[in-house]
Amino acid sequence: MPIMRSPRDIGKYLEPYIKDKVFCDVGCSVGVVLKSVLPYVREAIGIEKCPDKVAKCIEDGLNVIQGDVLSIKLPEADVYYCWIAHNINRIIHDKIQKGLVIIGAEKFVIEEVDVLNKLKPDKLITFQFDEGEGHREKGIFYLGLFYK
Ligand SMILES: C[S@@+](CC[C@H](N)C(=O)[O-])C[C@H]1O[C@@H](n2cnc3c(N)ncnc32)[C@H](O)[C@@H]1O
Repeated sequence: MPIMRSPRDIGKYLEPYIKDKVFCDVGCSVGVVLKSVLPYVREAIGIEKCPDKVAKCIEDGLNVIQGDVLSIKLPEADVYYCWIAHNINRIIHDKIQKGLVIIGAEKFVIEEVDVLNKLKPDKLITFQFDEGEGHREKGIFYLGLFYK
């Protein structure tokens, strides 16, 4: 797995929580998660600050807004997915008042990295991914679910 993207098949693990919902990937990069959830959701929206990544998403037909997730008003959604830096994950978690917030991570509170400063998810999902032998192409991925 190249640096800092979720596993490509994340959508199938998210399916029970996103089926027919409006889904927002907060910090969507080039849209790996958005593409993976498209078969399941009613609508998929991304937010990304990097113009090149936004351009790639738009080229691929994805619905992405360019902006800084810390300052823009987040779109209305049922489910928000976020995997950025730990401090930003926490800010997004606190900012969202209603819906399901899913924080992605390579490690979670139960391991050595405290992703959300002692905040425990309502549900923790872990799954194995294997996309090859390269750097970060294989391992365990963690999803913390927080119902607001
Ligand atoms: C770890 S990547 C995750 C990408 C995708 N959500 C995934 O899981 O595969 C985080 C992305 O968030 C973007 N990002 C970081 N800080 C941001 C901010 N303040 N506003 C918008 N996007 C941000 C980065 O440019 C990067 O593309």
